[in-house]
Amino acid sequence: MNIHIAGFGAGLPEQKVTNHELPKSIDTTDEWIVSHTGISSRYVASKNESSGSLATKAAQEALKMSGVKPEEVGMVIVATSTPDYNVFPSCACLVQHHIGAVNAGAFDLLAACSGFVYAMQVARSMMLLDPRPVVVVGTDVMTRTVDWTDRNTCVLFGDGAGAVVLKADKRPGGILQSVLRSDGGGERVLYCDGGYRHPKPENMTPGFLHMDGKKVFNFAVKACEEVIRDLAQKQGLSLDQITWVVPHQANFRILDAAARRLGIDMSRFYMNISELANTSSATVPLALAQMSREGRFKSGDYIALVGFGAGLTWGGVLVQM
Ligand code: UT7
Repeated sequence: MNIHIAGFGAGLPEQKVTNHELPKSIDTTDEWIVSHTGISSRYVASKNESSGSLATKAAQEALKMSGVKPEEVGMVIVATSTPDYNVFPSCACLVQHHIGAVNAGAFDLLAACSGFVYAMQVARSMMLLDPRPVVVVGTDVMTRTVDWTDRNTCVLFGDGAGAVVLKADKRPGGILQSVLRSDGGGERVLYCDGGYRHPKPENMTPGFLHMDGKKVFNFAVKACEEVIRDLAQKQGLSLDQITWVVPHQANFRILDAAARRLGIDMSRFYMNISELANTSSATVPLALAQMSREGRFKSGDYIALVGFGAGLTWGGVLVQM
């Protein structure tokens, strides 16, 4: 039994904010943001939009494309760091209800920007025991975690959701390999405060994102390189045989550096950071949905999906279309 991607979907907020439209109070320029990150714009959720609503939109689109009926879905897995509720209920339960997956279980998975690739491997593993279709979503509203007075972080992120529907099938290919890694020694390199480590309310903090940009940058280049090499090696492929790398979109320069170290031409890294910025769990499935719409996949193509982020976490899955 092989696990194939049968449908792709995207859920983006209505409002797009270009670098020129950022609040004037932020001491930054379009030139700095583009040259240091590759980002020109991002989508920002309005007060009526959330991780749950964007995920629902993406999941509905993916289900429609797959031809799977909501009642046939066995599990809904939502990778997110910014669920609608603090702790519970899970975002996945909201999505399961809104898409009408009345026979499904649902749970959230937290692995920050690596969440979607983790969720793909978790779904694949579960489907070996229960082969019903699984909806896998990556969704985040990162613009609600940043301090909008901190130019080091607020310009980097955007909001959005992407989804796939996985179907078990005898056809060869599908998800072939996975690499999932973690190093909690890096807990303070990238983190959101708040949480339950301390008693409340004395130590209640607002849940802002904190990042040591340079450390994350250096980690990310190495992680991206390592994951692609490991996926290729596990499958017995040369790097040349990988048709597309679909990486987490955190910074154009991170991916450019990783591509150079691998000797892979940057034209084989699918990039959409310019328009969407860093949407955390959603970057990879949003890129997949866009690539599917653009007709970029051919049967037999090897696609390496790569994530890296807070935890620290990193990983990837190799998919044959
Ligand atoms: O999903 C994973 C999440 N995060 C990441 O992947 C981020 C990884 N890190 C990065 O992408 C980069 O480190 C940044 C984009 C965050 C920063 O780029 P950099 O080339 O490492 O810049 P820098 O930290 O060396 O800062 C250079 C200068 C500093 O000014 P001084 O101290 O040299 O006077 C910053 O204050 O750029 C300044 N700066 C800005 N200037 C204008 C930082 N942010 C901005 C800004 N606009 N938005």
